[in-house]
Amino acid sequence: MEVVIAGSPDEVAQLAAGIVARVVSTTEQPVIGLATGSSPLGAYRSLIDQHRSTGLSFAGASAVTLDEYVGLPYGHPESYRSVIRTEFIDHVDLPVERLHSPDVHATDLAAACDAYDRTVVELGVDVQLLGIGADGHIGFNEPGSSLSSRTRIKTLTDRTRSDNARFFDSIGDVPRHVVTQGLGTITAAAHLVMIATGSGKATPIAAMVEGPVGASCPASVLQFHRHVTVLLDDDAAGELRHGDYYRETYRHKPPWQHL
Ligand code: GLP
Repeated sequence: MEVVIAGSPDEVAQLAAGIVARVVSTTEQPVIGLATGSSPLGAYRSLIDQHRSTGLSFAGASAVTLDEYVGLPYGHPESYRSVIRTEFIDHVDLPVERLHSPDVHATDLAAACDAYDRTVVELGVDVQLLGIGADGHIGFNEPGSSLSSRTRIKTLTDRTRSDNARFFDSIGDVPRHVVTQGLGTITAAAHLVMIATGSGKATPIAAMVEGPVGASCPASVLQFHRHVTVLLDDDAAGELRHGDYYRETYRHKPPWQHL
């Protein structure tokens, strides 16, 4: 796990965008995994800027989403497919038919979850962006999620529903059920990039990076993955025991080694 502590949220966004841009421009038919929430928004803005100013092209790329609410009407602005389109896809040249997301409107939801899991695995995600929830969830894998779980329906915790209530008129409007890629599905991606900024992320980040691996902190499963980059600002790094070591390591990173 490579932990990079950057000076500002903007620098974090630039680093994350740089990783995705590199994959997109050096891989034939790249597959990028997109996350929702506020954490990756700066990276999306930077990628859109690069698309406009340098011609960075997503024309040959495919994208997969991590998770989706169950119960929102098709096209609801807060559905994660809509959010990913509004914040990123609709501003670049990635063909929308190559944006994959779980079919939460299927009559047989369990079969739709299995089908989505197969799609993600068959595509093979080159780089997956991630944010972290206050309770250590990634995607919508709440505490207690099996570390080898696949795409399935999950029930949100009260904490996650209240954290996400800011996107809805009231907490009562936040769906209770979601479909999420499982921890086993997410960790099949070749490169995982965690983005976290602000002091609210300090506790879950410390648990993820330095705590014991276990279902109580689902993100801790990343400790088993062979290529994880954790991009933090100073506030999100605030509770790391080995913060000085991570800073030292990044300062002396060999110039030929990219993130
Ligand atoms: C939601 C999403 C997660 C995201 C988390 C944190 O629960 N399902 O993918 O990481 O929110 O969101 P934010 O980045 O807004 O803090």
